[in-house]
Amino acid sequence: MKKISPTLTGHTPGRRVEVFLANGLIDRLGEVILQSVGAHGRGPGVPSGKSKSQAKSSARSTNRSPIEIVTDRNVAGLLGQRVIDSLANSGWSVNVSVTPAGENIKSSATVAKLHNHWFELGYDRNTPVIALGGGTVGDVTGFAAATFLRGLPFWQVPTSIVAQVDAALGGKVGINHTRGKNLIGCFYQPAGIVIDPSALDTLPIRERCSGFAEVVKYGVIADRTLFQACERHLESWISGDEAIPDSVIKRCARIKLRIVAADETDHGLRRTLNFGHTLGHAFERWGKYRALRHGEAVALGMVGAGWMAMKRGLWSGRDFTRLAKLCTLLRPRRLAAFKVSDIARHLSVDKKRIRGRNVWILPRGIGRVDVCADVTEKEISGALSYIAAWLRS
Ligand code: GLY
Repeated sequence: MKKISPTLTGHTPGRRVEVFLANGLIDRLGEVILQSVGAHGRGPGVPSGKSKSQAKSSARSTNRSPIEIVTDRNVAGLLGQRVIDSLANSGWSVNVSVTPAGENIKSSATVAKLHNHWFELGYDRNTPVIALGGGTVGDVTGFAAATFLRGLPFWQVPTSIVAQVDAALGGKVGINHTRGKNLIGCFYQPAGIVIDPSALDTLPIRERCSGFAEVVKYGVIADRTLFQACERHLESWISGDEAIPDSVIKRCARIKLRIVAADETDHGLRRTLNFGHTLGHAFERWGKYRALRHGEAVALGMVGAGWMAMKRGLWSGRDFTRLAKLCTLLRPRRLAAFKVSDIARHLSVDKKRIRGRNVWILPRGIGRVDVCADVTEKEISGALSYIAAWLRS
């Protein structure tokens, strides 16, 4: 069987991370994982090079190694069987844990449930665990995998735009706490990330918009060409008239791998990935994580940060207007009126504060940002008032 080569590779101090990106990879996941674990001498006992049917019968005659898929109900219905077939054809004994859909699964209860199940099934430190789904499934599955027997090989198979361009890369995994989102977690790099852009075909339009906020973010922080592509195509990507090109996902993934290689643990360059997120997280908290999709909140946050940067003279009014125009396509269609003080209050519990101050990522141009910790309350209320007026426009 022909080897499937990684599309991109990233390096962190602890490991080499491989990203496989192509349409149809969902149906070849078994091969991808098999060739990776085979390279480490831990495969399910099916030599690569055999045909699918040979692999199947060979698998039956060997004691098949277990592999775990964690997915949510929505994704299980759409893609579950294809992934199971692909893994079984490569000789794995496939177990599936299906969670409800939604942010609530990022809890210690889900992690405990997964761990109990994995103990019952007798998993050992070589048992691969696959997160099949969006960022939520990736986060909780990765955290469960990182903490079971001090770490199982973990594969990200992202099925949303946010996860394909951002969340599945970089090794941040975790769960929520009653005090806030993602407050319990760790850095745990996946063994591999398998991105099949055709998995995005069934995404509802609101979900697509939410994902594209992260793409626009990458354009502003690091890639002028990507930003220009968004200016030309975003409307048709959102409507589905044009499929999101693989090259767009690849550009975002490449930027993220580069940033994470330089600063895996988020003390420097990685903070730039937070563009739009400081205010965005405050909006999400204000909306109790129900009123807004993550990307909708990030679109509001990018406009707020872009406005502050313009007022500071960091970038031009023209560039700000270009960003606001894109964000108009991504912002929430309906949002209850908010008080500036309500959103400002939610800023004070951001986990990325340093010595009591929020960290802000402010653009210096398209493709270049600064990290600022000296933003004043006056600038924040100015930005929030601007966002309120912009939402009414
Ligand atoms: N999504 C931001 C990060 O991975 O740092």
